[in-house]
Amino acid sequence: MLKGNTVGLRARHEDDIPILRTELYDDVVNGSRAEGRPWRPISPGSQDSRLMVNDNDPGFVPFSVVELDSGTLIGMATLWGIDTHNRSAHIGLGLLPAARGKGYGTDVVAVLCHYGFTVRGLHRLQIETLADNTAMLRSAEHNGFVREGVLRSSAWVLGEFLDQTLLGLLARDWNPNPQPESDHQPQSR
Ligand SMILES: CC(C)(COP(=O)(O)OP(=O)(O)OC[C@H]1O[C@@H](n2cnc3c(N)ncnc32)[C@H](O)[C@@H]1OP(=O)(O)O)[C@@H](O)C(=O)NCCC(=O)NCCS
Repeated sequence: MLKGNTVGLRARHEDDIPILRTELYDDVVNGSRAEGRPWRPISPGSQDSRLMVNDNDPGFVPFSVVELDSGTLIGMATLWGIDTHNRSAHIGLGLLPAARGKGYGTDVVAVLCHYGFTVRGLHRLQIETLADNTAMLRSAEHNGFVREGVLRSSAWVLGEFLDQTLLGLLARDWNPNPQPESDHQPQSR
């Protein structure tokens, strides 16, 4: 398990699947805003790639996110689109509603950076998020991501086109132990 200050990123367990399905992926608004594709329901027992792990896809690394102290499942995180030539990847995360707004997102991004840069030796990490997703933007910026541009009207979300913000972080600019802007310094691992 990868550990931050408050969260752990571990493998997907069978028990996680119904919780992620009902609390995260059944939510039409969250799904439409966060996934970049049309929302559709996931049936119990489905092999949907958002829930089931495909060990044959080396470019997609899914984690379940747990609270470090209690071990309680609080969400999911992914390193996806891993490009071994350009040594880049994208990160994504989604927390269960009760776990949002408590600083966990910032810590999850910190752990994904550790995984991407230190464990995988990547050079660049990227995030695309809706331009009004303040919680995601701030979670990224607390970890050193910078806004590199606006993808105008690039996301069709529940009846309208919305802008997305593109954020990037290079390995050379990453500080694994960020100081005061937040309380979210990762532990030495
Ligand atoms: C986006 C998400 C992962 C962020 O994680 P989080 O734990 O809620 O965020 P944090 O508590 O670490 O907060 C990070 C910053 O966002 C701010 N923030 C949190 N929730 C907010 C909200 N609803 N509105 C505005 N700002 C918010 C916090 O104040 C904090 O900023 P600050 O430190 O500058 O004060 C989480 O909210 C989530 O899962 N949302 C739904 C799915 C989603 O949008 N995923 C991203 C798709 S690209």
